[in-house]
Formats: sequence, C-alpha cells, structure tokens
Amino acid sequence: MNAVLQSHTASESSIVPQVDQPAAEALLQVQGVSLEYRTPERVVRATHQVSFEIDPADRFVLLGPSGCGKSTLLKAVAGFIQPSEGQIRLAGAQVTEPGPDRIVVFQEFDQLPPWKTVIQNVMFPLLASRTLKRREAEERARYYLEKVGLSAFADAYPHTLSGGMKARVAIARALAMQPKILLMDEPFAALDALTRRKMQEELLELWEEVRFTLLFVTHSIEEALVVGNRILLLSPHPGRVRAEINSHQYDLNSLGGVDFQRTTQRIHRLLFDEGEAEPAERELSFKDVRIAY
Ligand SMILES: Nc1ncnc2c1ncn2[C@@H]1O[C@H](COP(=O)(O)OP(=O)(O)OP(=O)(O)O)[C@@H](O)[C@H]1O
Ligand SMILES: [Mg+2]
Repeated sequence: MNAVLQSHTASESSIVPQVDQPAAEALLQVQGVSLEYRTPERVVRATHQVSFEIDPADRFVLLGPSGCGKSTLLKAVAGFIQPSEGQIRLAGAQVTEPGPDRIVVFQEFDQLPPWKTVIQNVMFPLLASRTLKRREAEERARYYLEKVGLSAFADAYPHTLSGGMKARVAIARALAMQPKILLMDEPFAALDALTRRKMQEELLELWEEVRFTLLFVTHSIEEALVVGNRILLLSPHPGRVRAEINSHQYDLNSLGGVDFQRTTQRIHRLLFDEGEAEPAERELSFKDVRIAY
C-alpha cells in the first residue's frame, strides 16, 4: 500500500494538524476485500485484497480485463457474496446481505418480466419491498419514467421496446427505489455502438439531475473515462488494484481528442503491462493519478 492510502488510515491524530484529519467517512468502504468461489474441486480467487472508497454522488468505475473480478466485486457490494477476507461497509454498516439500499442493473435487459407493463415493472420492487403503497409507488414510477423519457410508454410491454428503451426502464426501476448506491454491471454492453453512446449521454444527464451515487462496471476504457469521475484499475485475474485515477474532466465531447486518446493508451498500458511497474510506472506522470501500487 502506498503512502497516500496509508496517510488516510494513519492513527497519529494527535500529531497531525487539524487540516490533515481524515475526511468524513465515505459512503461505501471496500477494505482489503478478497473474494473466492469454492467449487468441489478447487477454490477460485476472483479478487485479492481490493480496497476503495466511494463518496456520495461519485460515478465510480471498476475497470479491468475480462475475468478480473469486476462482477464479483459488484455482487459482493450488493450483498450476494461474502468476502473471504476484508469487509464492505455502506454508510458505516457492514454489508451482510442484499438490501433495497443497493440496486443492481445488469447487462441483460430481458430481466424485465414480460407480462408486466413498463410502469408495472418500475413499480414492482417498490411494492414487493413494501417501500411504498400502490398510489405512491405509481407516482414515483411515473416520475422516474419521465426522467428517462419514457412517459409515453408507461403502458407498453417490454417486448415492444428497443434495447435502449429497456435499458432506460431498468434504470428508472432502479432509481425509483432511491438506493444509497446504484450498481451497474456493463449495463450497455449488449447495445449497438450508437445506442450505447446515447445511453452513456443520458446516464450523465440523469446524474446531473438526480445526483445519485453510481458504481459502474465496464471493461471499456473509453466508457470508463466518459461515465466515471473516478476509475479503479484492476489487474488481470485475480483482480488487484493497479491504480485509481480521476476522470471527471472527460465526457462524450472528449472522444477522439488528443488528451483523451493519450489517457486511453496510458490506462491500457497500466492494465496490461505485467512487468513490475515498468514502463507503465514511468507513464504515471499524469497528474490525476490518486493511488498507484
Ligand atoms: N460462479 C462461479 N464459480 C466459479 N468461478 C467463478 C464464478 N463466477 C466467476 N468465477 C470466476 O471468477 C473470476 C472473476 O469473474 P468475474 O465474472 O467477476 O469477472 P469480470 O471481471 O466481471 O469479467 P467480465 O469482464 O468477463 O464480465 C473469473 O476467473 C471467473 O472464472
Ligand atoms: Mg463481469
């Protein structure tokens, strides 16, 4: 662990000046989390001692190659899997099971029950979790459908919608629960390139309006830079933290720009250079790197 992170956890409060006191506790704290799958034959370690923190209204991205444990980390934050080492805390409380304060949007939009209309789909979790009574649930569902531009399709059935529209229903359904953190696992991966870009744009617009806290998984460097304000880079299997970078300066307008391309290439090297911090480490001159291991 490097000095930046150590200073964050140092217990030398008596000798540290007031201004250097640790900031208020983060919304989500993932501390030294190792995750394993146990099959009868063997144990597969998906992540190794991963740590990161997410603050309210962050758009935090987990980025790494296929198999590095991104989905597994997301499932652990959601409470579906327990760490074999380390812990996960949300608003100070340890995560031990799934809860309505963490809602997941997956890649497959066919998770929308086809026999329910769009509005019934959005209302369903609110009613099933007894969060709201029917009338309030409908009101809230309409509010979020309006936010994702689907008011006119409230009574449509999912099979009549395009992939992008299904994605928006899934997002409206998740936001309607007003979770403490929205978890998205490659939510646009199944969409064509143009629709994917449109969805990224809409997600950012929605964030501007609602300011939810987002944990977003992708293996696309470009998508990570566009969607995230912070990006955690994970090494190949088992996933370990390679670096964390700030990316708030990029959006869809940055695509194709020289700076954007250069950052994309540097991240690529950081992700895939197996050699001990060389030559990627020398490339770490970019000012936005927060933590490098
Ligand atoms: N149910 C499971 N049983 C055993 N091993 C699993 C299981 N699910 C995932 N794994 C293993 O855990 C590791 C991490 O998988 P995970 O799905 O989290 O990766 P990922 O980063 O999300 O990859 P991708 O980008 O392809 O979605 C992989 O080696 C995978 O084979
Ligand atoms: Mg995955």
